[in-house]
Amino acid sequence: MAPRERDEAEERERCITGIDGLDNILNGGIPRGNTVLITGSVGTGKTSLCLEFLVHGAIAGENSLYVSVTENSDKLLTNIIPYDFFDRKLIKEGRLVFIDLPVIYDKLGLEKLEFEFEEVNILITAIGNIVDELKIKRLVIDSITSVCYRLKTQENIRDFILKLGAMLSSRGCTSLLVSEISPAEERYSHYGVEEAIADGVVVTGNLERRGDLLRTLQVVKMRGTMHSRAKYVLDLTAVGVLLVPLLKGGSVASAGG
Ligand SMILES: Nc1ncnc2c1ncn2[C@@H]1O[C@H](COP(=O)(O)OP(=O)(O)O)[C@@H](O)[C@H]1O
Ligand SMILES: [Mg+2]
Repeated sequence: MAPRERDEAEERERCITGIDGLDNILNGGIPRGNTVLITGSVGTGKTSLCLEFLVHGAIAGENSLYVSVTENSDKLLTNIIPYDFFDRKLIKEGRLVFIDLPVIYDKLGLEKLEFEFEEVNILITAIGNIVDELKIKRLVIDSITSVCYRLKTQENIRDFILKLGAMLSSRGCTSLLVSEISPAEERYSHYGVEEAIADGVVVTGNLERRGDLLRTLQVVKMRGTMHSRAKYVLDLTAVGVLLVPLLKGGSVASAGG
């Protein structure tokens, strides 16, 4: 790394995710304002990881917003209630907020299944207004793939993610965009453009080892910091996401089973 680049990397303020393993991989957290794609197939732990990121943010006093596109947010709550570190007062005090995107679509009159350029702008403005109003510093959209589905063309998707990222970054909001891919997919995102535009790409996956199906996590890209590119075992436990290095040679260090 050139000295100038190194300086820039060291200068960026961090959004400490609160997931210790991930903060270690990222040398202190996600550079604040980054838009990060969390990509993987179903059941690999994307939603759990994102929820934990928000809960830790809310605890640290950073207002956190979960925009749910496909799942009802009430149902999602049942995922975090068991965590020791979760406290309902985070929701009562407005530090942890859940919004269902279909409700926003309704309010904005975005009824069409296919969004044009103009509707993309309306949606971004609406999200920006919510971020301003609620003073949101951490945002999750689960999933961005479901939004992109309505944008149809690669140009619209590119435009949407670029504008969304710029809008959030200018507000100092650190964001995770969940990307759903099929297990066989070779690229990091369904439409192929999301990964190129995001500031970071974190891949979650499955790995079969000795008859066990392990979950894995790998940071492929993160602007503004040096980071490990190693593959880790992602363990979903009662105390949250645990990340353990996946050792070469077939053994897994204390991955809990
Ligand atoms: N704390 C936990 N302990 C054990 N299993 C969990 C925990 N949290 C979630 N799971 C399970 O892990 C699976 C995947 O979680 P999820 O985060 O929803 O994946 P994705 O969003 O990638 O589809 C779900 O079946 C869920 O029940
Ligand atoms: Mg999910």
